Amino acid sequence: IADNMLTTTIMATKAPVMLSPAMNSNMYENELVQKNINTLKSAGYIVIEPDNGLMACGSKGPGRLPEPAAIVQKLTELFSPPNMSEKEAWFVGQKIIVTAGGTREPIDPVRYIGNRSSGKMGYAIARAAAKRGAQVVLVSGPTSLPCPEGVAIKQVESAEEMRRLVLTEYPTSNIVIKAAAVADYRVKEPSKQKIKKSDAQLTLVLEKNPDILRELGSLKAKQILVGFAAETEELLAHATEKLIKKNLDMIIANDVSLPGAGFNTDTNIIKILYRDGRQEEFAKMSKEDLAEIILDKIYSCYQKMY
Ligand code: PMT
Repeated sequence: IADNMLTTTIMATKAPVMLSPAMNSNMYENELVQKNINTLKSAGYIVIEPDNGLMACGSKGPGRLPEPAAIVQKLTELFSPPNMSEKEAWFVGQKIIVTAGGTREPIDPVRYIGNRSSGKMGYAIARAAAKRGAQVVLVSGPTSLPCPEGVAIKQVESAEEMRRLVLTEYPTSNIVIKAAAVADYRVKEPSKQKIKKSDAQLTLVLEKNPDILRELGSLKAKQILVGFAAETEELLAHATEKLIKKNLDMIIANDVSLPGAGFNTDTNIIKILYRDGRQEEFAKMSKEDLAEIILDKIYSCYQKMY
């Protein structure tokens, strides 16, 4: 009987339909209900079997609505492209914030303090996550890269702008990957006018920028937090310190003084450090391949946590 919005829509659609029948056990086991369910199944409807247990009416048996997470899992499987492995399919629908590129801290209206980040590492991660079906928000400093397909991009310049955007998206996100090179300092009082050249020395007073990742670490609820550490010496010691201080689950350490690693290269050489003290080392490879590895490791990290 199609006499309401929901059932008329179901009758009219050519999309796959998934049903999750839930009712009193006697009702569910009723021969006519079972016959109708079988009719729907043979017409191609996908039926999620109800759970067994205590019903709201007090009786026990089959008929309980499965946990929402179990229904979402079935939906995930339904919408996963064929040939996707379990660790790829897990990303379908996950909200991931990726930060990429370097920030620019203004000195005056025409000059800024910047760094050598091209955004390649962060964009590769955003692209790989979107391909796995994640809902990706890419918070990007200025780069010359095109926005990857299926990714929502938010362009920022300064660390403060990046902080505001990331904090807005954070409460509804499941994973944050901070590949951006955020300036640790900014000019205390940027000039409103272009600074004129003179014979005198010019001194800029710098003040500390907020540490976005540390703030996320202190606000962390259920999110998986992944940081990067760009170092030129004592890679593991500095990365470990950041992992702990910022309350991260994983940190990707790269020694940016090595050829083929770090800033503005197509490849990177990384070590991954985990909260439980484990460390993994990877040979030089493309940022695209590393992005896939990083996502696989996030999946494993989640499996261990929950
Ligand atoms: O963009 P590419 O050219 O591809 O280069 C890639 C990369 C070298 C930029 C990338 O691999 C990398 O290492 N990114 C992190 C660079 C960095 O700023 O590292 P850090 O050790 O200073 O910061 C540690 C972590 O805290 C980072 O995740 C950073 O995003 C975050 N942070 C740092 C300072 C700050 N004020 N707020 C932050 O959130």
